[in-house]
Amino acid sequence: MKKADILVLDFGSQYTQLIARRLREQGVYTEILPFNASLEDIKLKEPKGLILSGGPASVYANDAFFCEKGIFDLNLPILGICYGMQLMAHHFKALVAPATHKEYGKANIQVKQDSDLFKNLPKQQVVWMSHSDKVENLPSNFKVLATSENSPYCVFADEKRKIFGLQFHPEVQHSEFGKSILKNFAKYACKCESIWNMGSFAKTQAQKIREEVGSNKVLCAVSGGVDSSVVAALLANALKEQVIVVFVDNGLLRQNERQNVEFMFKNTLGINLISIDASEIFLTRLKGVIDPEKKRKIIGNTFIEVFEEEAKKHKDVKYLAQGTLYTDIIESSVIGASKTIKSHHNVGGLPEKMNLKLIEPLKEIFKDEVRVLGLELGLSKEVIYRHPFPGPGLAIRIMGEVNKPSLELLRKADAILLEELRSSGWYDKAWQAFCVLLNVKSVGVMGDNRTYDNTICIRVVDASDGMTANFTHLPFNLLENTSNRIINEVNGINRVVYDITSKPPGTIEWE
Ligand code: XMP
Repeated sequence: MKKADILVLDFGSQYTQLIARRLREQGVYTEILPFNASLEDIKLKEPKGLILSGGPASVYANDAFFCEKGIFDLNLPILGICYGMQLMAHHFKALVAPATHKEYGKANIQVKQDSDLFKNLPKQQVVWMSHSDKVENLPSNFKVLATSENSPYCVFADEKRKIFGLQFHPEVQHSEFGKSILKNFAKYACKCESIWNMGSFAKTQAQKIREEVGSNKVLCAVSGGVDSSVVAALLANALKEQVIVVFVDNGLLRQNERQNVEFMFKNTLGINLISIDASEIFLTRLKGVIDPEKKRKIIGNTFIEVFEEEAKKHKDVKYLAQGTLYTDIIESSVIGASKTIKSHHNVGGLPEKMNLKLIEPLKEIFKDEVRVLGLELGLSKEVIYRHPFPGPGLAIRIMGEVNKPSLELLRKADAILLEELRSSGWYDKAWQAFCVLLNVKSVGVMGDNRTYDNTICIRVVDASDGMTANFTHLPFNLLENTSNRIINEVNGINRVVYDITSKPPGTIEWE
């Protein structure tokens, strides 16, 4: 069982993951457990401190979330954030009630008292509030550490027992010294050292993988995306030729993608990929299909078939590697246990279908940590900061039937868009950027001739996790250059439009 320096009990706040990420960024290994984790599970992790997260409920509601009361007798420093603070107050018999002035957004706090939390920090700070209840009086043995205009008990503490409550959210970027407050809690109250980093993670993980795999072999499917590339790099580092890396060319890739992925693996990682050209099978099965869901199903199932065929050729393989991230694990285990795990995105549900044991070396880390790990392992920035690319590839960016001529048109236009974005510096600012072939023809005039050709739609969005997105406000001259180049250089396209739909209501991909 891996130990954790700090454990965050999750009471359902949308910011819970951020608490863990902020602490990890500062070298403190932090894990998240559900709010009702048993004392046994908590003790097994041997934490040096606990954090009670925020949450949407009221402590006095019938269905309020409570943690094991015994956590207050473990002799561990505890930090309660928003709901976590109210729960503390409630536990220690103070009053929590609906606030007359609900506070959402920025507020100023005034630090009244020196403490571990505010060591080396200014007395006046801007913080981010988001609460409708508040603590009305101090529990006994607690004192006020900071106040805000609407919250006289904005931060309180029983300093002897190292129990602290914050009405605001230090994990949110708008709390200007929030990150330092969390660090101070870990460093001064919990006596944690800043030793968690991706260099040491890579080493311990490699050791663990070697012990687990022994002399067996591991099959690893890569897409060229960040997660699977980092998994492959980590495995190659730990196991050398005991890892078999497979790349399936489904014929739905972007321009030069297969060559780029092969080159990257060979040159930066020294891995000889097994590239399977399955494009004919995929394209044959997609013939005449226009329904987006049917396309997705055909592609997913075909991928499994092709992969299984390949797996059969390697008899001594006992393990299958997957790029499951910590976020996938949290989302499948905490309060909303019904949320579907996202890892099926990686290899299309392979594990249930094959008798291979799963190996998931990234399951303890967040996406931003995966990127740092990738850089540590020698992957290029270009790979690490690539935009996401969906498993079904260009098939869900061609409205209507997918065929070779359509794929050719789309690839050419897409390559021009990416080139323009890269050279103008906009690629790194956007979450995703691509072209969509609309299969809509319109009349145009080029030279003195009438044209009747295809329309390309440019889709560029800003997002932080892809769950919501805004269309990117690209400069008009960049759009103009891109449009001109696409129309001039791609035979068969005479019109370019820009998608100005955000998500919701639109999705990022068109299908
Ligand atoms: P949507 O279109 O739902 O996409 O707004 C959100 C994010 O997910 C990506 N996406 C996929 N990724 N397999 C993947 O690996 C898929 O089937 C898939 N569908 C959408 C999409 O590119 C965006 O980043």
